[in-house]
Amino acid sequence: MRYAKRGCRLLVGAVVLAVAAAASAQNVVKLGMIGEFSGPFAQYGQQILGGMKAYMKVHGDTVAGKKIEIVQKDTGGPAPDVAKRLAQELVTRDNVDLLVGFGLTPNALAVAPVATEAKKAMLIITAATSIITTKSPYIVRVSMTLPQVTQPMAVWAAKNGIKKVYTVVADYGPGLDAEKAFGEAFKAAGGEVVGSVHTPLQNPDFAPFIQRVKDAKPEAVFLFLPAGEQGIAFMKGYEERGLKQAGIRLIATGDITDDGVLEAMGDPTLGLITSFHYSAAHDSPENAAFKKAYAEANGDKLRPNFMAVAGYDGMALIYEALQKTGGSTDGDKLVAAMKGVRLMSPRGPILIDPDTRDVVQTVYIRKVEKTGGGLYNVEFDKFPEQKDPGK
Ligand code: PHB
Repeated sequence: MRYAKRGCRLLVGAVVLAVAAAASAQNVVKLGMIGEFSGPFAQYGQQILGGMKAYMKVHGDTVAGKKIEIVQKDTGGPAPDVAKRLAQELVTRDNVDLLVGFGLTPNALAVAPVATEAKKAMLIITAATSIITTKSPYIVRVSMTLPQVTQPMAVWAAKNGIKKVYTVVADYGPGLDAEKAFGEAFKAAGGEVVGSVHTPLQNPDFAPFIQRVKDAKPEAVFLFLPAGEQGIAFMKGYEERGLKQAGIRLIATGDITDDGVLEAMGDPTLGLITSFHYSAAHDSPENAAFKKAYAEANGDKLRPNFMAVAGYDGMALIYEALQKTGGSTDGDKLVAAMKGVRLMSPRGPILIDPDTRDVVQTVYIRKVEKTGGGLYNVEFDKFPEQKDPGK
């Protein structure tokens, strides 16, 4: 009898605990954040998460009555198999409600089928190959696409007296997208692409490629490399091999003059013209508030770049969508709630295109200048409401 009573009490206790756990789980929204936090692309994860934290610093960690929790995972670099396994674990073991992050295209592509199968919203904060959003109806992207930011560079170059260009791009999705978009828009505007090379994504040695460009004597090089350390190495080679002195100009997407590494690239970047959707020098109250929040949440060692801004905007989008769904994390409802959202981002106005689930935004033409005590991409021309031209 005594045993039966104790057993009964234990059972009641267990039920109470289980009910409490279920109730608290209902009051939490778990974000499974997959990023690159180690290896040569480690700044990607740091910047993305830093931007997400900056948003939460300003807006708190609760929305629609739910507490936001981030479960963070590191792919260690471009590692599609790892990214897929991490996504599966996040969904089945950690019971996350959304998948978010993704610096590099191969990692995002590998996770797309997991989002589809689990019916979880998947928010891309950086990965920028055009096709990514077509790989799952649960994908929404807040960053950019390479064709979107490249096309204005080609148009600007052709209008500003550059007629013969050699293209140099990283040999994977975003690079191939940039090469195609540049070639098409540049030819349509009367320019000629006189040669092209693809550089490896992992551990590239740029010297032979830079020499090949120099020998071809184009008027300019158009460059796409993934943001970060590769840009530092390329600029060094461009300096050492004397391309500037040979009169060969450099034009690029703003990945190369990424705010996170611009200072480390130093004075050789002065005058470099790029096209991009975000500059830390963008003059707006939203950008000033963002930079302040980023420094408060993460310290002021790292200058926030476009990935950090997209992390911040990504959180704004998640908060807005959760408000609309009344806190429901149902994948179909969240994606529907994200479609058509307009935000005043630190980069300028953005819209989530309801048809493509990609972002529509202003692309700026910028020039590296020394201003405000450092090197910055100073915006001087713009292409408003730029869509992904391929869609
Ligand atoms: C990508 O892998 O999609 C990617 C990474 C870094 C960039 C742009 C695109 O700067």
